[in-house]
Amino acid sequence: MRHCIYPGTFDPITCGHLDVLERAAKLFDKVTVAVAESAGKGPLFTPQQRVDMIRPNLAHLPHVGVTTFSGLLVEFCMAHQADAIIRGLRALSDFEFEFNMALMNRHLEPKLETLFVMPNEQFSYTSSTLVKQVARYGGNVAHFVPPNVAEALRTAFAK
Ligand code: COA
Repeated sequence: MRHCIYPGTFDPITCGHLDVLERAAKLFDKVTVAVAESAGKGPLFTPQQRVDMIRPNLAHLPHVGVTTFSGLLVEFCMAHQADAIIRGLRALSDFEFEFNMALMNRHLEPKLETLFVMPNEQFSYTSSTLVKQVARYGGNVAHFVPPNVAEALRTAFAK
C-alpha cells in the first residue's frame, strides 16, 4: 500500500491545494494531509480550524485523511510509514524553495522521496496570503477557495 503525505500550513486550504490533493489521490492508495502548526507563520486560523476546514472537502476521497503535525516533517512521515511527500509546483518561482526543502528532507531521511505535481494553471497565482488579503478587504475569493473556507474567512474578518 503506497502512502503519501501532503504537508503544508493550509492557512487556509485553497482550490490550488485541493487540485494537488486530487492528483495525489489518483497516484496513492492512501494520502494524509498534514497541517503544520507553523506558529512562525502567524496563521490566522488555529491548527484545528484548518483541519476542520479541510475535512468536508475530502468527503469524496475516502482514502484521504487529515491531521496536524509539529516538529520535523520527515519524522512525522516515518512515524506514519509514508513512502513519499507530495508537493505542488505552481510556477518556476516555487522551484528553488521546494528544491532545497526536498534535498534537506532527503538528507534527513534518505528513504523518503518527494514528488512534485503541477496544479491546474488557473491556480498558478493563488496563495493563502493573497486570498486572506483579498478577503480582509471584502473582495470575492470564491474562485480560489471552497465555499466553507470563503465563509470562514468572512467570519474571521467580520470581527
Ligand atoms: N495552490 C495554491 N497555493 C499553494 C499551493 C497550491 N497548489 N501550493 C502552495 N501554495 C501556497 C500556500 O498557500 C502558501 O502560501 P502562503 O505562504 O501565502 O501562506 C505557500 O504557497 C507555501 O505554502 P505551503 O505549500 O503550505 O508550504 P508551507 O511553506 O506553508 O509549508 C512545510 C512548508 C510546513 C511543509 C515545511 O515548512 C515543513 O515541513 N515544516 C516542518 C518542519 C520541517 O521539517 N522543516 C524542515 C523542512 S526541510
